Amino acid sequence: MAEDLNIGKGTKEDQYQSLIPQIKALLEGENDLIANLANVSAALKEQFNFLWVGFYLVKNDELVLGPFQGPVACTRIRMGKGVCGASWERAKTIIVPDVEAFPGHIACSSSSRSEIVIPLIREGVVAGVLDVDSEELNEFDEIDSKYLSQIVDLIPFEIEE
Ligand code: SME
Repeated sequence: MAEDLNIGKGTKEDQYQSLIPQIKALLEGENDLIANLANVSAALKEQFNFLWVGFYLVKNDELVLGPFQGPVACTRIRMGKGVCGASWERAKTIIVPDVEAFPGHIACSSSSRSEIVIPLIREGVVAGVLDVDSEELNEFDEIDSKYLSQIVDLIPFEIEE
């Protein structure tokens, strides 16, 4: 594909539907994990201008910061800690409408108001998480959960033994 992202217009659903085929094209034929996570982060940031969008990868029993777009962030998160660690522990997507109301939320940026975290599950194991933060309260809903899960599932991911 051309390297320029075509920014979708319309409802949030319209925007995801315009973005997903472009993400597929970006990932096609590329198996390098860092390259793919970097481009997925950039594509989501460009389309939606979220405050922070990026990945944490499970390494030696911790989540370690991976490719992202946005302000600098904490590098390591333990299982069960914060929204990311909770999503990892439960192997479930977590939508947080108001980060101040989530016990144990890790405030990497004081501008973050709401958040969604989607686990990357491969062979039944959580291999990492996609974390998206917004400056607006209540930014994320089931539409984001549905499409961000589809996007995460597109990423080729080999589990390291
Ligand atoms: N807020 C997250 C930490 C990661 S940063 O927001 C980028 C959490 O509570 O897990």
